[in-house]
Amino acid sequence: MKTKITDMFGIEHPIIQGGMHFVGFAELAAAVSEAGGLGIITGLTQRSPADLANEIARCRAMTSKPIGVNLTFLPTVTTPDYPGYIRAIIDGGVKVVETAGNNPQQWLPMLHEAGIKVIHKCTSVRHALKAQTIGCDAISVDGFECAGHPGEDDIPNFILLPRAADELKIPFVASGGMADGRSLVAALALGAEGINMGTRFMATKEAPVHDNVKQAILDASELDMRLIMRPLRNTERVLKNAAVDRVVAREKELGAKITFADIAEDVVGVYPKIMQEGQMDLGAWSCGLVAGLIHDIPTCQALIDRIMSEANAIIRERLARFAG
Ligand SMILES: Cc1cc2nc3c(=O)[nH]c(=O)nc-3n(C[C@H](O)[C@H](O)[C@H](O)COP(=O)(O)O)c2cc1C
Repeated sequence: MKTKITDMFGIEHPIIQGGMHFVGFAELAAAVSEAGGLGIITGLTQRSPADLANEIARCRAMTSKPIGVNLTFLPTVTTPDYPGYIRAIIDGGVKVVETAGNNPQQWLPMLHEAGIKVIHKCTSVRHALKAQTIGCDAISVDGFECAGHPGEDDIPNFILLPRAADELKIPFVASGGMADGRSLVAALALGAEGINMGTRFMATKEAPVHDNVKQAILDASELDMRLIMRPLRNTERVLKNAAVDRVVAREKELGAKITFADIAEDVVGVYPKIMQEGQMDLGAWSCGLVAGLIHDIPTCQALIDRIMSEANAIIRERLARFAG
């Protein structure tokens, strides 16, 4: 399937694997790219620019197809060495960067001079328009359904995507709640040029996370996610567990007086123990409502092939029946 996104990124299918902390390692990115999508290494999961350079090299050894790197600009206690990470991306020959969080404007000249395309993840049309104005090449429109940080506007993709289509001139993909061929066709119908998936790719054979994480996604329904850190205006959609119950209780108890320190124990530095050791109640971890649509753990190749054949069948058979 050819779209503006497959053309821009030089990929076969309009399917992107979004950056995921302690999930987006070389193994997953390479498997997605080898299957014809765009695999993305999560930059800040690597402790230093040198570690990111190694991770890019490891991924390069597993695939010669295009890969991307995610750079997330969120409030953190110590500012990461962003120029160093960007240097590792450029030197590693990566041609796509997914930015997320704060405005990436100051880093665009460096990236563009190296011939890198920038896709910025946005949860609102106003932020997407801003990203277009400052020169981003594409947008990942992240609806309220998404895992991770859905922003504070709470606009789901059935409204957000057509709003983006009405306003944006640059291409965009639909992110949040995407799982299968139906998602892809719906996203295309609403004006997107492809899809971005996080949670769905976590439940694949190649995702380098503990089996407990994959099983938790299989066991979850769309009713099992919670929003935390809303009072801090840093809302995150996570899977309900003992740690999340503690955070929610503390948010209720402290109300507007809550500070980050009051919940830090359950949200800071917990990812390695959850994703790698499978300690599922140790802290809060991002998970999308789309878990309700995930019932198996395929390889990335099987997943992408299935999405493409389902999408083609829906367009040729089901939708063709309704046309004129
Ligand atoms: C475990 C996990 C960790 C994530 N970490 C990041 C991150 O570090 N940076 C980022 O931009 N997005 C992150 N995301 C969001 C994904 O890139 C993607 O936008 C989101 O998962 C889309 O929603 P979906 O899960 O419904 O497909 C994360 C998502 C998950 C599930």
